[in-house]
Amino acid sequence: MLPSPATRIPSIGVFDSGVGGLTVLKALREQLPGVPLRYLADTAHAPYGDRSSEYIIDRSVKVAEHLHRVGAVMAVVACNTATAHAVQAMRERWPHWPVVGIEPGVKPAVAATRNGRIGVMATTATIASRRYEQLVAAHASDVELISQPCPGLVTLIERGDLRSAELGELVDRYCATLRAAGVDTVLLGCTHYPLIQARIQAALGDGVRLLNIEDAVARQARRVWEGFGLTPGGDAGIVLESTGDPAPLQHLAREALGWRDVTASRVAA
Ligand code: DGL
Repeated sequence: MLPSPATRIPSIGVFDSGVGGLTVLKALREQLPGVPLRYLADTAHAPYGDRSSEYIIDRSVKVAEHLHRVGAVMAVVACNTATAHAVQAMRERWPHWPVVGIEPGVKPAVAATRNGRIGVMATTATIASRRYEQLVAAHASDVELISQPCPGLVTLIERGDLRSAELGELVDRYCATLRAAGVDTVLLGCTHYPLIQARIQAALGDGVRLLNIEDAVARQARRVWEGFGLTPGGDAGIVLESTGDPAPLQHLAREALGWRDVTASRVAA
């Protein structure tokens, strides 16, 4: 059984609009096995990817406020959409609270492609963001980059049935565009998508390489955590909380991550 860290024990606060950030949480657990982790899924307000920048900032700051209040000494924004729109607002609000975000790994994708054609699957709001535009301008000027917004995918993943036919049809539709463009590398620019990586790989075919950067984000978080010089008190539990129905979060943590004893509860934020 995974013990739960009590309120105010130094921990790392992690959030996403929903279950997607579990993919980052898993990488964090591997990098920082002795550190208490608190995860908050903003399930009641997911998905963020079809919302305005103002909405995403407002929700991200409210969720971060909760993590800050319960003793997280740093935050990991396990959501590309929230990182693109809200990290700056968080840093302005808490200038001394380290915040690590996740962004589509355009630079590693450019390094990986052999034919110079890259696909990016991400939410509509990530692709529309100024930050994404900057990333592409900085790193992808010498390649052909096809940005594929994937509305609806997060909503279906949030339902928890990763094998549904409806989800498969949507994956096929978005991947068909990328296949037609002849990409050899596809970037998963939303933390929900690695949960259905096998389905995306099947739709794109074996010749296409999938990239995600959850491990790199966890390594960055480890560097920040180590800078605190804290000695964890032997209680390295994981707290899972949701602003909505906690059942899908608990289900996926148990099924997809194999954390059989973990429980999730509902909180207001
Ligand atoms: N996991 C979030 C991301 O990485 C999904 C955003 C959404 O809620 O649409 O972008």
